[in-house]
Amino acid sequence: MSLQQELGALAVDIAHEAGALARRRREEGVSIAASKSALADIVTEADREVENLIRERIAAARPGDGFLGEESAAERGTTGITWVVDPIDGTVNYAYGIPSYAVSIAAVSGEPDPREWQALAGVIHAPALGELFHVVRGEGAWLGGQRLKVNAEVNPAGSLLATGFGYDPATHAAQLEMLGRVMPLARDIRRIGAASLDLAYVAAGRLDGYFERGLHPWDHAAGVLLVEEAGGVAAGVPGSAPTREMTIVGSAELVARLSAIVFAGAAGNKATTP
Ligand code: IPD
Repeated sequence: MSLQQELGALAVDIAHEAGALARRRREEGVSIAASKSALADIVTEADREVENLIRERIAAARPGDGFLGEESAAERGTTGITWVVDPIDGTVNYAYGIPSYAVSIAAVSGEPDPREWQALAGVIHAPALGELFHVVRGEGAWLGGQRLKVNAEVNPAGSLLATGFGYDPATHAAQLEMLGRVMPLARDIRRIGAASLDLAYVAAGRLDGYFERGLHPWDHAAGVLLVEEAGGVAAGVPGSAPTREMTIVGSAELVARLSAIVFAGAAGNKATTP
């Protein structure tokens, strides 16, 4: 078994356990533990508990690896591998009882920075939807046993696009303005509320494309690899991989068209970090 296969298998095992815990806690009732960057940016007790579980399992299996998670302190490892983890992506859905939330786990090599790392394996597991997307670099993107493929055709009716909005109300006007510019490309827009699922759904051809600014590395680490292994393209600001400033995914043609629109008004501050 190659290193990335081993990492992928470990990620899937841990995601099953973490997803079961998240789902159980949801059934028992969710309590908000705190607000983070903005009042709307919440963390539940379950987010913390699930991240602790994932962290413990990784440390037990691969003690020298680094860790970059949404809810706990980052730690550099000694092996060159870092685990990038969102224990419950779609926390607001989770808190409201909407089943579109997911455990997202990726193993990356190199610097723990999305502009520099190479993602090796990942998993996105939506336990309340009974779906587990998994990917190993060079071996394709999968939903269970079904191989995934990004939609390559640009539909004359327009593209089914997803996006998201930052928690900080100060970012909303610029994001809505950008959405207005993108609308002519869209047959419709989805706001699913979990970036990892937006990305997995692009990989699965359930969405044609997705764009959002303000994402953290743990929101997109596993999902971007899924999209790429499903034949799609992931971009950030021109010339860069996806970062907090921008994430755009879809077929190569759609990403080029979206990037042209998103960055057309960027002479001011439209596409810069909130
Ligand atoms: C959020 C979700 C949401 C996206 C936000 C993310 P969280 O992650 O993925 O869809 O729009 O940018 O921060 O806070 O639920 O883990």
